[in-house]
Amino acid sequence: MASQAVMPVLSNTEMSAAGRTFPDLGQKLLGGTREFGFPLPGLRPLGLQCVHQEDNVLGTLSRRPFPGLATTYDALVRAAFHPQWWDSLRRIRVGADGTVTVVSGFDHDPSTREYTLMQHNFALFFGLAVQLYEATLVANDSPYDRFMDGDPSAIGAPAILGVDLFRSQTRGRCINCHENAELTGASVRRVRQSPTRIREGQALDRGFNNIGVLWTLEDRGVGGNDPFGVPLSSVRLLIPPPPEPIAVDGAFKVPGLRNVELTAPYFHTGGFRTLREILQFYSRGGDAVPARSTDGSLVIAGLNVLNNTEEEMAAVEAWLLSLTDERVRARCAPFDHPQLFVPNGHLGDNTFVPSILGLAFDRFVEVPAVGRNGGSPLKKFLEQ
Ligand code: HEC
Repeated sequence: MASQAVMPVLSNTEMSAAGRTFPDLGQKLLGGTREFGFPLPGLRPLGLQCVHQEDNVLGTLSRRPFPGLATTYDALVRAAFHPQWWDSLRRIRVGADGTVTVVSGFDHDPSTREYTLMQHNFALFFGLAVQLYEATLVANDSPYDRFMDGDPSAIGAPAILGVDLFRSQTRGRCINCHENAELTGASVRRVRQSPTRIREGQALDRGFNNIGVLWTLEDRGVGGNDPFGVPLSSVRLLIPPPPEPIAVDGAFKVPGLRNVELTAPYFHTGGFRTLREILQFYSRGGDAVPARSTDGSLVIAGLNVLNNTEEEMAAVEAWLLSLTDERVRARCAPFDHPQLFVPNGHLGDNTFVPSILGLAFDRFVEVPAVGRNGGSPLKKFLEQ
């Protein structure tokens, strides 16, 4: 999670100008003396967002109604990390070719940059901070969790029938792919055991399946290549290759199903608006079926046989609704958050889009700050 967190920050298609480095970013946020130019004051943490006074982590640092925290990044790093990662009077010199040396000051050479240890290690602080924050967001108190912990009254009779169908090896078979407490085979514990598997004589990536949402060649999913031409699929990277036929084309990651009630639209296409539409999809055995690999061989999609009865679909739906952790719906701690701005398309309409230099203007939706007691639930997809 730390490695994932440090990517968008420097990506020139996400959050950064091209060519910026993490120490540069550290210098901007932490502040400090620079070799050429004025000293930088540093930036205020969360400087453009209001933080609720009752935020479960940051409440005591809130400046509401003003945005940002009443502290500095420098103070936050000192409070959270061992001094050996930031406490030094020496500087780290990064040469034009990227070589790193420990020095005592600036060399007045414009092709090199000197950073403090804290600036130079900023990716470490940033990545670990995001990872540890994400690790607090565990939605493990849904009615289904209580049911699994031994409280049979935590979910109603329809949801219990839904659990039976979810587990049934002749009917729903959902559990074959949406497995364990994570409700997916694409979990750390399963992929760590083995990133590939053999199923019914075919080689697959663990946690990825072709369930016939689209025709295989419309989107190869994990069967495609990365921008450097390297296969995304773990099976395709095996040396030697497996003797079995490889059935990864058109396969997509099996998503976990916690809080799925709150996260429409569904599937990688976003083409399904409601859980009921998904259950109708599973009941008819998929849309683009039979699913075939690029070499023409059949992909055994392992789709279920819900048979489309109203009672059974309502039961599986009731089970899916029992996966909602009410703390997430209401955004109570640890799921409370500062004020957020979410880009939602651009200014303009079907006939006119204002722009400068070919770039349209983002339109933002504001999600107000909430504290540890949460707030009113956010509108769901079809309620906008
Ligand atoms: C063969 C493996 C497999 C089986 C069996 C299976 N699923 Fe899935 N499920 C997937 C995959 C793969 C996706 C993602 C597909 C995509 O994004 O195109 C998915 C997506 C979903 C989603 C959408 C989640 C989201 O956030 O978009 C729901 C809900 C769901 N499955 C429920 C079920 C239920 C209920 C059953 C049993 C009736 C079931 N699944 C059986 C593999 C499976």
